[in-house]
Amino acid sequence: MTDNTVCSTEELLKKSSEDVTVIINGREYPAKKGEVMLGVAIREGIEIPHLCYEASLSPYGACRLCMVEKRCRDRSEMVTSCTLRAEDGLEVVTDSPEILRHRRMILELYLAEAPKSEVIKSLAARYGVTKTRFFKKTDKDDPLGNKCILCGLCVRVCNEIIGAGVISFVNRGPYTVVSTPFSGENSDCLGCKACVSVCPTHAIVTGDSGDERIMKSWGETKVKMRECPVCGNYYLPDLLAEKVYAKINPPLSKNIQEMCPKCRSRNIAIKEISASSNRR
Ligand code: SF4
Ligand code: FES
Repeated sequence: MTDNTVCSTEELLKKSSEDVTVIINGREYPAKKGEVMLGVAIREGIEIPHLCYEASLSPYGACRLCMVEKRCRDRSEMVTSCTLRAEDGLEVVTDSPEILRHRRMILELYLAEAPKSEVIKSLAARYGVTKTRFFKKTDKDDPLGNKCILCGLCVRVCNEIIGAGVISFVNRGPYTVVSTPFSGENSDCLGCKACVSVCPTHAIVTGDSGDERIMKSWGETKVKMRECPVCGNYYLPDLLAEKVYAKINPPLSKNIQEMCPKCRSRNIAIKEISASSNRR
């Protein structure tokens, strides 16, 4: 069902500074026009389960868990709240019987898709789902430990924010996985672990060993770590450091660049103290 009274996304974003009032579960809340409704709900402490939403990335609507019922006059439709934009008078219901039925079904599917994920198990249990009627996908060699729900967050953060494009969806249909090309090592990987920090199911495995960071899930890709010349700790992937420092203007001095954050702060503090005692 399409509601023609809803503005296009472009129109909404143009007026995004405008204050509007939206209605969630029968109560009015303030919002900015064009803001995503899931963001409004999170801000107001209203529970809508979600797995593929990340405020810093463009809305994607992959996990289908954040569905709400959008009501307009005597009509209603189920929509993903992470792609639904606020407008004045917009009314949604987050916990109607239909929504709860849909949520349970999706969680059952995820129990089959990611049977080893404790995050999925505990989220499903909160909605009373402890078993799945679907075929459980388990592969003892899965580099993502049978925990991936294919939400795409890792792929998007690697492309949209880091700009490295190291991983992508490969294969099709039930064989789809997230991986590096040919599941091998990828020299473009910066070892930044942005993918790790956004993964909702903690599926991505990495390990630091001496001067190497090993992205185990991404074809065992090895990334060289930078050693702090002061304390000797390996603290940052070399490629990442180069990329970040190249953007700092005016550039940091070479010895400051090479220090780990702790030694750098200590060094700056010592300089500040000696400068202030010289002034006295
Ligand atoms: S590895 Fe994690 S972030 Fe990437 S698609 Fe799978 S569940 Fe999503
Ligand atoms: S958070 Fe909306 S579809 Fe995943």
